[in-house]
Amino acid sequence: MNIQEFIRKVPKTELHLHLEGAIHPQTALDLARKNGVHLPPVDDAKDLYRFKSLEDFLVIYSAVSASVVDVDDFRRITYEMLERCARSGARYVEFFFSPHAHLDCGVAYETQLKGILTGMKDAEKDFRVVSRIVPGINRERGPAAGQEMVELILAHRTDEVIGIGLDFNEAPFPPEPFADVFAHARKSGLHVTAHAGETGPAAYIRGSLDALKVERIDHGYNVVNDMQLMQRCKDEGVLFTVCPSTAAVTSAWHDLSAPDHAIRQMLDFGLTLSIHSDDPPMFFTDLENEYVKAVELLKFTPRDIRDAILAGIDGSWLDATTKRRWL
Ligand code: ADE
Ligand code: ZN
Repeated sequence: MNIQEFIRKVPKTELHLHLEGAIHPQTALDLARKNGVHLPPVDDAKDLYRFKSLEDFLVIYSAVSASVVDVDDFRRITYEMLERCARSGARYVEFFFSPHAHLDCGVAYETQLKGILTGMKDAEKDFRVVSRIVPGINRERGPAAGQEMVELILAHRTDEVIGIGLDFNEAPFPPEPFADVFAHARKSGLHVTAHAGETGPAAYIRGSLDALKVERIDHGYNVVNDMQLMQRCKDEGVLFTVCPSTAAVTSAWHDLSAPDHAIRQMLDFGLTLSIHSDDPPMFFTDLENEYVKAVELLKFTPRDIRDAILAGIDGSWLDATTKRRWL
């Protein structure tokens, strides 16, 4: 068995994936046509997903999000995303979605949730993949909109909605103003995580840990610019959910095979890392391929891969009994 087959077959978690970023380009074009939404004209569906920075990417991400309108659209994108996760060997998926993006287009939160829940149920039956939902708070909208979003999430709470994230453009949107939003979510029993240190400074990682009290850091590459913070994260066993293909485009480290790539530095320093796919078709990847890149480009050893898979189980928000069974 080669390493790729081994990676595919080992049961894994996917903890860092955005539902809208996981829309296949042909599905995006189909939905845009069906719903009369304008997307940039392209000769080949794949050309929809070409960008050079986080800002460029988020423009397309928002346009594609606008193409998803009714319950069946949400069911379809959820089902297709989970099918692809299952093909990569994911058995448990905690995925973000972007409620603000759809509310902007007049799509009610209830519509979004209903379609997503149906897609999850169908995918669990067909592909044996269990999943949970983590609505993402768009930091660009500011803390008042964040607080309203948490209220909306709590008003429509179901067991499948287990936490919140913080995403979109980092600078100049530091985490501290969201302290009350996250405190409210935590007190209400939601788990919390935040994108930090992908394009924003190491201080945003520290702020996410101290002000938001997040349980894990999504991306976090700029931690390598602050030795004191690196040591703290190592001592506290902070989990970083890294995404190699995204890191190569959006972070300051474009060459995954460079010996000083941030992910390589994080690994060498002994930080706890799990490997994920973020926005897979938008970065022409999937979960299996992210692990293959970790091996072939970032030079993870089989032991490093084993540790990352275990970290992805341990850092998940599965209940303790299920987690123990897996570990
Ligand atoms: N939303 C989807 N993907 C993202 C990323 N890589 N960074 C911030 N926000 C995102
Ligand atoms: Zn992300």
